[in-house]
Amino acid sequence: MKTSVIFLLLTALAVIIQGSPLFVRREESTAIDARTEAPQTCGDVSDLTPLYSVYIAETTAHIYTIYDQNISAIIEDDDVPSTQFLGVTALVFSISQPSTLPFVCLRNSASSAHFCSTNQTALDAALATGSTSYMTAGYVYPEQICGSVPLYQLQFIATNSDYIYTTSATERDDAITTKGFTYEGIAGYVYDLLSCENST
Ligand SMILES: *[C@@H]1O[C@H](CO)[C@@H](O)[C@H](O)[C@H]1NC(C)=O
Ligand SMILES: *[C@@H]1O[C@H](CO)[C@@H](O)[C@H](O)[C@H]1NC(C)=O
Repeated sequence: MKTSVIFLLLTALAVIIQGSPLFVRREESTAIDARTEAPQTCGDVSDLTPLYSVYIAETTAHIYTIYDQNISAIIEDDDVPSTQFLGVTALVFSISQPSTLPFVCLRNSASSAHFCSTNQTALDAALATGSTSYMTAGYVYPEQICGSVPLYQLQFIATNSDYIYTTSATERDDAITTKGFTYEGIAGYVYDLLSCENST
């Protein structure tokens, strides 16, 4: 008997609370908050891998890759004697993550340039003017999320065109002032070795 009275009281209370304008407003504002909170799908950091850079002085071409096999193939190729291993440019995802785009690299045999981008329009334009597919150099964020840093894109605009990708503002500025490169914008957002040190 007592139990059913308490049950009835609780039911009545629940109806009153649900009907109260105060309660309804709170519900609505929570829903709005949930909607405006941008989802940040950072991806699996254990899928991060180094993006390496090699410079072929003979053809003035910077090449970026996540594959050791590409590096050894370039360095062991007797036809390309003047190669310089430049080390790790950034950390990128080796496999696709929910918030990433493929960082597609093309090569142009006429200019020897290696152009990498997440921008399909720019890639299609390069493919239409004689570039061919080289590889997908990992996956990067198109927006600055999860503590990532900008990957700057620079182009040496000439017959033997060349592209540089770097997370270093110093290297970017040096390429502009001393090497004649033109700054073209941010190619994507990646992790650098420093941002990883800071986050651990
Ligand atoms: C680079 O390495 C990948 C993985 O081994 C391979 O599939 C690709 O053909 C290589 N690209 C070139 C141009 O050597
Ligand atoms: C993609 O590339 C095209 C052609 O270069 C350019 O017009 C456009 O602004 C680029 N889009 C983004 C999002 O950067």
